[in-house]
Amino acid sequence: GRSIVSLEGLSSAEIERILQVAAQMKNIVISQNKKLDVLRGKSIATLFFEASTRTRSSFELAAKYLGADVVNISKSGSSMTKGESVRDTALTLSAMGVDALVIRDSSEGAAVFVSRAGSPRVAIPPVINAGDGAHAHPSQGLLDMFTVREAGISLKGMKYVILGDILHSRVARSDIIGFAKMGADVHLYGPRTLVPKELEALGCTVDDSMEEALDGADAINVLRIQLERAAGGFIPSLSEYSSLFGLNRRRLALAKPGAIVMHPGPMNRGVEISEDLAYDERSWIQEEVRNGVAIRMAMLYLILTEGKDIEVHN
Ligand code: CP
Repeated sequence: GRSIVSLEGLSSAEIERILQVAAQMKNIVISQNKKLDVLRGKSIATLFFEASTRTRSSFELAAKYLGADVVNISKSGSSMTKGESVRDTALTLSAMGVDALVIRDSSEGAAVFVSRAGSPRVAIPPVINAGDGAHAHPSQGLLDMFTVREAGISLKGMKYVILGDILHSRVARSDIIGFAKMGADVHLYGPRTLVPKELEALGCTVDDSMEEALDGADAINVLRIQLERAAGGFIPSLSEYSSLFGLNRRRLALAKPGAIVMHPGPMNRGVEISEDLAYDERSWIQEEVRNGVAIRMAMLYLILTEGKDIEVHN
């Protein structure tokens, strides 16, 4: 099995394969409320050293729906509170024989670091990055692509707009890399301090106005201001932010008719997204959450079966 640390490491064909297996997973398990036993005998550890609701629960449910056993470790309640390191925590779970590690940490590079942290006696199994600082969140990028497709929008040639705090966002980075790889035209807009022009090096366009960004948009992903990562950098006040950069129904009218609204969550309703729009039928935010389970099932399945075709007997 292979680790998945970022979407840079996957080809467009591999991304396509994950999206297709996720569609099968959603169809079979989530729609029909079935449990498979394709990963029976496998075990997975989730190591969440930073808070999570969606990612952690959906990896756990995904593993369980496929018949695997799961253990969940967080900082509080583990021996990390006694000073044990990330490496030693990962080695400890690996020594127990888990078949994959899912890791979230506030440091960029944590997942790669863990994947290389084996010792002469203990090998580290495949690692899935569930978010490392502001670097990458590949399962979120994949579930965002899956959701756009499910809305009937083809990734190739679509205009995908990301609004808000891009600088501190691992979701933005994985989305930019993934959507661009699949042929989408990716645009960014937000306060210039949070959306520097240098981000264009990732293969996207940084726009100068909301109008420019939203014009012709097929999907708009709205990001939360990450006050916890701002570390002293300039950030507008929340009310300023909402009036200048927040998405609301009036601004959504600038996009294509039928454009969908996305948000990785958690939302600051009334700041980056208006209250009414958060629960509008054009909002696919809960679909993203639902699709997160299917994507994570596909990732775990493909990694732990080394890409075997899924055979499911209904
Ligand atoms: N989108 C996302 O990663 O949410 P959590 O932080 O709740 O996992």
